[in-house]
Amino acid sequence: MPQRIVAGNWKMHGSRAFSAGYLKSLEGGALAGLGCDVLLFPPAILLPLLSTPASDLGIELGVQTVHPEPQGAFTGELAAEMAADAGAVWTLLGHSERRQLFGESDEDVALRALAARRAGLKPMLCVGESLAERQRGDADAVVTGQLDAVLELLGDDLASGGIAYEPVWAIGSGETASPEMAQAMHSMIRGVLRRRSERLAEMPILYGGSVKPENAAALFSENDIDGALVGGASLDPAAFLAIIMAMETHGNP
Ligand code: 13P
Repeated sequence: MPQRIVAGNWKMHGSRAFSAGYLKSLEGGALAGLGCDVLLFPPAILLPLLSTPASDLGIELGVQTVHPEPQGAFTGELAAEMAADAGAVWTLLGHSERRQLFGESDEDVALRALAARRAGLKPMLCVGESLAERQRGDADAVVTGQLDAVLELLGDDLASGGIAYEPVWAIGSGETASPEMAQAMHSMIRGVLRRRSERLAEMPILYGGSVKPENAAALFSENDIDGALVGGASLDPAAFLAIIMAMETHGNP
C-alpha cells in the first residue's frame, strides 16, 4: 500500500511571523498519531526557522526546487546539499510554475532529480498537462514523457519519493479535476511506474490543483489518489488541517 501524504506548497508566501503563527495553530496534538505523512514546502529561507518546531510536530520539510550542481557560480540558486543542510528532507521537482515561468525542461528536471538524490533528498516529482494539451488529447503522452525523462536517469531511486499529478489548468484556478478524471490519470501513472518496477508502482501519487477541505474527501476516496499537494489552501492552517483530516477519514485503508 503506498504511503499516504498531505503536503503544503507555500510557493512564494510566508514570513518569520507567519511561520511561527502557523506552527502554533498546529500544536496541541492535532497532528498526533496520524496515518498519513504531513509535508510542508515553504520558501527555502524559512527552513532554518521551521526545522525544529516542524520536526517536533512530526512534519517533514522540503524545498520547492534545487539546482543540478552542488556549488558554483550560479547567483540566486540553491544546491540540494544546502537545502538538506538547512533541514529539508524533500524537494519538489518540475512544478508547473518552474516549468512554465522559469523554463525548466524535462531534461532539467531530471538533472535536478539526480542532484536531489545525490544530497539524500526525497524527490516529489510534479507532472501535469496544460489545458491545450488536454484538449488535443495529449494529456497521457505529456505526463508519460515527463515521467520517463526522470525515470531514465533515476530508475528505481525515484521510489524514495512521490509523484504529484497537477493538471496545469487546475492550479490556482478554483477548477479541480473531477475525482474520476484525476483517478484515471493516477491509474495511468501507476501503469507507467509498474512497467518499470513493482517498487516504483508502490510510490505515493498525490493530486494537486485547487484542493480544498470541500473537495478533498471525494478525491481521497479514489483508489490511486494517495494524497494531495495543496497550494493556496495550505496557507490557512485550519483548511490544511481539515484536508489532513479528510485523508484520515477517507483516504486511509
Ligand atoms: P493550488 O492548490 O493553489 O491550486 O496550487 C496547487 C499547486 O500548485 C501545489 O503545488
